[in-house]
Amino acid sequence: MPEINLLDRYPRTRRPIVARGKLKLARGGRLASDPTASRTTEDLMVEHTLLQTARRFGREYFDGDRLYGYGGYYYDPKFWTPTARRLHQHYELAPGSSILDVGCAKGFLLHDLKRLYPDLAVTGIDISNYAIEHATPEIKPYVQVGDATLLPFPDRSFDLVVSINTVSNPTLEQCKQAIREVMRVSRGRSFITVHAWRTEKQRENLQKWNLTALTSLHVSDWEKIFAEINYTGDYYYWFAE
Ligand SMILES: C[S@@+](CC[C@H](N)C(=O)[O-])C[C@H]1O[C@@H](n2cnc3c(N)ncnc32)[C@H](O)[C@@H]1O
Repeated sequence: MPEINLLDRYPRTRRPIVARGKLKLARGGRLASDPTASRTTEDLMVEHTLLQTARRFGREYFDGDRLYGYGGYYYDPKFWTPTARRLHQHYELAPGSSILDVGCAKGFLLHDLKRLYPDLAVTGIDISNYAIEHATPEIKPYVQVGDATLLPFPDRSFDLVVSINTVSNPTLEQCKQAIREVMRVSRGRSFITVHAWRTEKQRENLQKWNLTALTSLHVSDWEKIFAEINYTGDYYYWFAE
């Protein structure tokens, strides 16, 4: 089970981590600047509302204020086209190969895979009704609403299963279940990325930035989880930098 960064061609965007920290501060009280400050009931309620809103994975998360998530999740080929090529080359996908994207959102990765390699059989699944409803028209026939922890596909359905920053959204136990599901529906090959940190700075950034991942761990803890559940696919990490 190799650690491999197959997102290395995904353009790096500058994330306004400080700004979101400040916004959290504005809405959530003094906590972002002084994590040791005791939380007032109001702080907790505001922070709770913020996280709850993001975790609904609705319009606010994808296309609402940056405070709640992406601040506009729109298609731009510069993001996924190089990654689609990278995955295709790395896994040497033959014409007719089947690929599942778990947590496909609006289907942008699948969109570019299908555009570049029309012979691929693509499928996407996402828990967000909003994202699936707003999938690109070309990819809409291939995507559906569903939960990563209970994939509605028979064992060994796909030549390749990918899941980018999705299986770490639920709790640790559900996350393990989602990874098991990735393995179950794959014929052997898979690539997942999870929220993680190596350095203290990355941990702090993740805390400030992340709104949805209930399971974000140090890379060494992820290694233990992968070993515990006998994950045999490929993986990499999403670092907040
Ligand atoms: C951080 S976004 C990543 C989206 C896309 N993979 C990308 O990299 O742009 C996480 C995605 O996971 C979806 N998601 C969260 N929990 C899920 C679950 N239990 N099952 C399926 N999808 C889920 C969200 O709706 C969202 O589209």
